Amino acid sequence: MRQDLACAVDLGTSKVACVAAGLDDRGRLRVEGASSVAHAGLSRGAVIDPETTGKAIDEAVARVERTVGRGFDSLVTNVSGPHLRSLFGQGIVHIVPAGRAIRREDELQVVTHSRQAFVPSGHEQVLAVPREFRVDDQAGLTRATSRTGTRLEVTTLIVTGATQTLHSIERAVTLSGRSVEQMVPTGIATGLALATEEELDKGCVVVDIGSASTEVATFSLGAPECHVSLPLGSNHVTTDIQALLKTSLDFAERLKLDHGAAIARLVPEGEAVEVAQMGSPEPRPMQRRVLCEIVESRMREIAHLAQRALEQSGATEGLRGTVVLTGGGSHLAGACDLFAEVFGSEARLGSAKVGGSGARLVESPAMSAAIGLAQVALQGDDQEFAPVSGFANWKEKIRSLRSYFGTAK
Ligand SMILES: Nc1ncnc2c1ncn2[C@@H]1O[C@H](COP(=O)(O)OP(=O)(O)OP(=O)(O)O)[C@@H](O)[C@H]1O
Ligand SMILES: [Mg+2]
Repeated sequence: MRQDLACAVDLGTSKVACVAAGLDDRGRLRVEGASSVAHAGLSRGAVIDPETTGKAIDEAVARVERTVGRGFDSLVTNVSGPHLRSLFGQGIVHIVPAGRAIRREDELQVVTHSRQAFVPSGHEQVLAVPREFRVDDQAGLTRATSRTGTRLEVTTLIVTGATQTLHSIERAVTLSGRSVEQMVPTGIATGLALATEEELDKGCVVVDIGSASTEVATFSLGAPECHVSLPLGSNHVTTDIQALLKTSLDFAERLKLDHGAAIARLVPEGEAVEVAQMGSPEPRPMQRRVLCEIVESRMREIAHLAQRALEQSGATEGLRGTVVLTGGGSHLAGACDLFAEVFGSEARLGSAKVGGSGARLVESPAMSAAIGLAQVALQGDDQEFAPVSGFANWKEKIRSLRSYFGTAK
């Protein structure tokens, strides 16, 4: 249901980010409050200690509540990590009497049928997004309502997650004193925030390079096509520098931020950086290109693994489109050039185009997942295949997640 203001919380490995947003008259996102609380309570997408994470969520949301002058009982949050799986469910229903106009209930029924797909053991469905409806021999339909036919089919993207991990997130949100309205895979939320309508339609890849994981989604025909999560992020670049240059972790992080680059050959030969090595009393000069070779090797691995995992998960048109990079790790100099080289497509840095008094607070790529989550929360009724009787819980929701927001860009 469309609301005035929605609250979204991005549970990251290094922070909890919160955004409260509504829509302006033109349907563009209007951010009214945002906060980020440093918190390292996640491991491979699971909350380690729900009580501490619950407190961090409460702190982040309470800050935003004070800014906007109202409370939030429920929120949209994300789920990340290598436990997530994408699969495609097929559904079919016969229209009786044959030839009558297809109704919303028929769409709901066929999508529900497609959700009876095989789910890995210990997993449950997080999200169901109908990709394509087919009515008799008409294929490639985004909606089937009002068409006439005898047989309605659908292909649905289903994202599943490990039950225990989902439960740990739900528990942390409950302990913050709020409830989960919807849980959305990070890559999908981020894509909805950053890709243009044209990119979502023609195909694009959205890559969120975080601290400990990289969340990737492809989109085509205006909707999510596939989602994968890699257990590698920008922190791995830091630990590589630490190990290979024998520095402290803090110094390695500084080297990455101040002098790192993703394509070493573009660094002029002879450029030097001062490196403070463990056990050595004085910093000593080292070729910056050597540092960047370490950085490049890990970043190239992330890009190659992302491409391979998407191919294996059934990404098609989306994989051939523009690569949109985000997350803290995308700040690295040359990251776009590297991904463009590996994917053989154009690559750009994503930035969410939002208005409102809090727009300035969400400029950083580290806030883009929270923006995308707020957009999902604000999706109108027409984007949701709502059963007449209402939902048992958030897992029953079926979202079209089509390019509803693209119109505002
Ligand atoms: N300018 C920069 N250059 C390179 N890396 C950077 C830069 N700024 C931030 N980072 C890295 O980005 C990472 C943090 O990104 P982000 O805030 O998106 O992570 P997160 O959302 O907390 O983690 P995750 O998405 O893995 O759960 C850290 O590893 C940090 O070192
Ligand atoms: Mg993140």
